[in-house]
Amino acid sequence: MTITSNPPQVRDDLLCSDQQQQQSDLQIEKPPEAAPASLGAPGRVLSIDTRVEQAWAHWKKLGRPKYIVAPMVDNSELPFRLLCQKYGAQAAYTPMLHSRIFTETDNRNKEFTTCEEDRPLFVQFCANDPDTLLEAAKKVAPYCDYVDINLGCPQRIARRGNYGAFLMDNLPLVKSLVEKLAQNLTVPVSCKIRIFPNLQDTLNYAKMLEDAGCSLLAVHGRTRDEKDGKKFRADWGAIKEVRNALRIPVLANGNVRCIEDVEDCIKETGVEGVLSAETLLENPAVFAGFRTAEWAKDNEGEGYVDGGLDQGDLAVEYLKLCEKHPVPWRMIRSHVHKMLGDWFRVHPQVREQLNAQNILTFEFLYGLVDQLKELGGRVPLYKKRKIDTLQESPQKDLES
Ligand SMILES: Cc1cc2nc3c(=O)[nH]c(=O)nc-3n(C[C@H](O)[C@H](O)[C@H](O)COP(=O)(O)O)c2cc1C
Repeated sequence: MTITSNPPQVRDDLLCSDQQQQQSDLQIEKPPEAAPASLGAPGRVLSIDTRVEQAWAHWKKLGRPKYIVAPMVDNSELPFRLLCQKYGAQAAYTPMLHSRIFTETDNRNKEFTTCEEDRPLFVQFCANDPDTLLEAAKKVAPYCDYVDINLGCPQRIARRGNYGAFLMDNLPLVKSLVEKLAQNLTVPVSCKIRIFPNLQDTLNYAKMLEDAGCSLLAVHGRTRDEKDGKKFRADWGAIKEVRNALRIPVLANGNVRCIEDVEDCIKETGVEGVLSAETLLENPAVFAGFRTAEWAKDNEGEGYVDGGLDQGDLAVEYLKLCEKHPVPWRMIRSHVHKMLGDWFRVHPQVREQLNAQNILTFEFLYGLVDQLKELGGRVPLYKKRKIDTLQESPQKDLES
């Protein structure tokens, strides 16, 4: 086979930079000076009261983030996290890292990069072996605020690999994973779960995680079988019950399309904060109060106006962040598709150019945005007209 027969995704696995540029991000073999926040000495089993107290102290020290970027394979990587942070996100999860592969790969793992501004940060792993998980977790502990266990992935690959939501069939194993980290790591352990069809099963599960040493729980309010987020609404009622049953901080996930959904979710469930995934991919400025046309249209009566920002602007900002913090091209390709999706629907021939491009370059991608702008049909992001709402929005440094 010749190199020209490689499918685009193989070339897309290459980093969008040379080695020199990579040096600007933290390398995982060089721990930062400051010691990470600790939940007690490794190896010590603390009482539940002490653990709950420490879990809250840690959460408060982080500033109790409400607006959080959910973990997304190939999509919640460093440049995207930084873009969302600029537009109001107050914390973020890395994409899921596979704990075994992470321990077997060279430390300069291109799937995990971070930098000083990239905090608070949850680094998420999938795992089914406590020792392997601990080994992987120790490598990232100096760079994050939580090591998170993915207990929610419902995909076939997770079934085959026996991780994610398929560990819901083996709760003793889940318990051993959480205990291993909680007793041996200086950074707190968090978990992200899906709900069971039966509420009491969900509550027993959540309680077991808390008892095992989980310091923060994110609950995606859909079951393992409810894979399609557009088809199945997340069950905020179940999330509220979990929040009321637990003593540690709880986060909610599901049904967030705009900033008002975040506030409604917090009010309805009593959670500390909300994770958003799919909405952020199209509109990384959602936490700053911006809406895509789809969600502004539904509420025309409320007076949505052009917010002075569009997805083309966001795509350019994202590309600049990628130049500074290199990631594999496949991640960039995926974001460009999602961020410019509304524009591609107006000008499908430009999308075809992107699809035909096996080897991406920044020059090509900036040119793509320019081309869309020149073709016209700009699709703005909208904001509420009311002055008080604009002032309340968490938009950060937009003028800079
Ligand atoms: C592209 C993509 C990748 C995802 N990867 C992960 C992952 O690595 N770990 C995880 O726990 N959930 C993952 N998820 C699920 C999201 O974190 C989230 O739970 C789900 O999309 C529901 O949130 P939403 O309604 O805001 O989209 C992913 C979702 C998407 C869309």
